[in-house]
Amino acid sequence: MNLSTDTIPFARPCLGPEEEEAVLRVMRSGWLTTGAEALAFEKEFALYTGAPHALAVNSATAGLHLAVEALGIGPGDTVLVPTFTFTSTAEVVRYCGGDPVFVDLAPGSFNMDPADCEKKILALKASGREPKGIITVHIAGDTDNFIRIRELSLKYGLFLVEDAAHAFPVETADGMAGTLSDAGVYSFYANKTITTGEGGMIVTSREDLKERISAMRLHGINRAVWNRYTDSSASWEYDIVAPGFKYNMSDMAAAVGRVQLKRAAEFLEKRIEAVRLYLEILGGSSVSELLELPRWKEDHSWHLFMIRLSTEKLTISRNGFIDVLKERGIGTSVHYKPLHMMSYYAEHYALAPEDFPAAMDCYSRVLSLPLFPGLTEQQIRRICTVVEEVLEKHRK
Ligand SMILES: Cc1ncc(COP(=O)(O)O)c(C=O)c1O
Repeated sequence: MNLSTDTIPFARPCLGPEEEEAVLRVMRSGWLTTGAEALAFEKEFALYTGAPHALAVNSATAGLHLAVEALGIGPGDTVLVPTFTFTSTAEVVRYCGGDPVFVDLAPGSFNMDPADCEKKILALKASGREPKGIITVHIAGDTDNFIRIRELSLKYGLFLVEDAAHAFPVETADGMAGTLSDAGVYSFYANKTITTGEGGMIVTSREDLKERISAMRLHGINRAVWNRYTDSSASWEYDIVAPGFKYNMSDMAAAVGRVQLKRAAEFLEKRIEAVRLYLEILGGSSVSELLELPRWKEDHSWHLFMIRLSTEKLTISRNGFIDVLKERGIGTSVHYKPLHMMSYYAEHYALAPEDFPAAMDCYSRVLSLPLFPGLTEQQIRRICTVVEEVLEKHRK
């Protein structure tokens, strides 16, 4: 096999014998669904992040839904969300009958623009629709602008949820990203920084949110079903306090998550090494003026390595560039096609591209290069060589 022509995937989970062993242990235990493993994963995750409460769920989407439901979002309520994100961030507001209000991204950043956010808060207030909260996203694992968004939430009395799907683990001066608001939600989807296949975790310091989320993630049952079967003092009887959801995490997933959590620092180290090499090679290359690289940051999970092409200096479009990389065996992705361009949101809320100039500009240039813990130095060098060749060939 010729390694140099093998396809390099955009992302690849890093799972080994310890994860396999953990799944076997659960399979052989006779208890597959939410139980001792999920409970242990929650405790270990809370300890890791410093959050008073951690609640395991079967996806970050489920976690975001539970968070906004517990924060009281109902029909007609408005929540500010970035347009430059995955649909989960906004759709969970719709699940509750509320309306997401889309905010442009800050020029030069991948995160929500505090100035546009405040403008939209004031416009809502002027129209008599008091906004209820903000869901902010740490895109790629970068908390850029978060402090200013948090100031806005405090100034206007809005709840704040961190969509921290990309942001584990990110140590900031104030604590772990995800723990700096009313509730933070992490994703353990297959390509995330740690994975359980599908899964997520909600963290909060608020006792009221913890209580509501605990019940709502499992049908609105007033206590954990697990106790029903394993606690000898528990009886078969339980109550339903609300029409809840089926969002609990299985013990098989949790067992994998516990191993991945132990490896999180090692994974981050490998991502950092990869990012440093990308920045060193591409930053020092003759084509460095034809692309914008992410700025190096310590407090970043480096879930994604997002670059922006200087398309005005090139004869190739972003899509054309992606096609050539694919032909050369390099997987890429685009984060994100903004939500205001998606037909559902565009039609339902009559959104126009010109209302989101920064997101439109970013979308036309942005792509994510491969980044995962198993990416080798040789692979990064090959990716950089192809990027340089393609950019040089299409220089105007
Ligand atoms: C920013 C963001 N939020 C939420 C999610 C949803 O995560 P999950 O797939 O765990 O529901 C994703 C998934 O990619 C995401 O990128």
